[in-house]
Amino acid sequence: TMHKVDFAFLDSGTGRIPYMLYLKEKCPRAKCVYLGDTANFPYGEKNQEEICICATKACKLLIEKFSPKVIVIACNTISVTALESLRKTFPSIFFVGTVPAIKLASSVSKNRRIGLLATNQSVNNEYTTKLIEDFAKDCYVAKMGNPELIEFIETSLFTASKNEIKDAILPAIHFFQNENVDTIILGCTHFLHLSKEIDHYAGENIQIVDSREGVVKQAMRFYKENENIDSTNIKDKSFFVTSEKNSKREYEILSEKLNLPYG
Ligand code: DGL
Repeated sequence: TMHKVDFAFLDSGTGRIPYMLYLKEKCPRAKCVYLGDTANFPYGEKNQEEICICATKACKLLIEKFSPKVIVIACNTISVTALESLRKTFPSIFFVGTVPAIKLASSVSKNRRIGLLATNQSVNNEYTTKLIEDFAKDCYVAKMGNPELIEFIETSLFTASKNEIKDAILPAIHFFQNENVDTIILGCTHFLHLSKEIDHYAGENIQIVDSREGVVKQAMRFYKENENIDSTNIKDKSFFVTSEKNSKREYEILSEKLNLPYG
C-alpha cells in the first residue's frame, strides 16, 4: 500500500498537539496529520459504546483521506475504552494508544500517594483500575475527573488571561494537595498544554508526570524514513477538526502560533 502520511493523530480536540510536536522533535521528517473529532467533544462524558462508535468513524475518515501507516490515539479516554475494538476493526493499521502514566508515577512517588487527573470516563474505567492494580498496587491513588478544565482548554485556553488560567487549574491543585499526593499524572492529553502552569501551581512538593515519552517511543518503533510514502498532496502537520462550533478562533490562533496548516 501507498501511504500518504506516516502518522495520523486522533483526539477529541487539541489534546494531541503536544504529542505530535514531541514526535516531530524526535523524527523531524516523519509526515504527520491530525484530526480533532471536535464534533463529538467531549469524549470523556460519553459511555463506552458511544466512544467506540465515534472513534471508529473518526479512524475510518483518517484512513480514507490519508491512508496512514500508524494511528496514534492521542486520547486517554479513547485508548482505555476503545483501543482493543479499533485494532480488531482495522487490522492493517498500527495503533499506538495513550494511557495514564500510572507506571511512571509509581516509579517516582516517594510517599506512595498519587493523583490521577483525567476525564470522568478515564478515572472510572476498568482498564485504568487494572493499570493501578498492575503497576501501583502499593499506592493510594486519588482520582479526579475534571471536564471543566478540559472544556476550558479546548475552547478558551489560547484566548484566556493568566488569571483565568489560574482559576481553571486551582480546583484540581487544591484537591490533590488535600489528598497529600507527591505526584500528579496528567491523564488527559489536553492537560499537557498546561503542564508548566500545573507544575508551577502545584508547588515544589508535587511532581507532574505524563505519557508523552512512552507514546512517542512506541510510535517511532513503526517508523522507517521515506518508506512507501507519497505525501505530495498533503501538507505536513496539517490540522483538521470535524466541527468548529465553539472554537474556530482558538484553532486559528493555534495554527498560527504553532505553524500548523489548518485544514
Ligand atoms: N483528550 C482526551 C483524553 O485524553 C479527552 C477529552 C475529552 O473529554 O474529549 O482523555
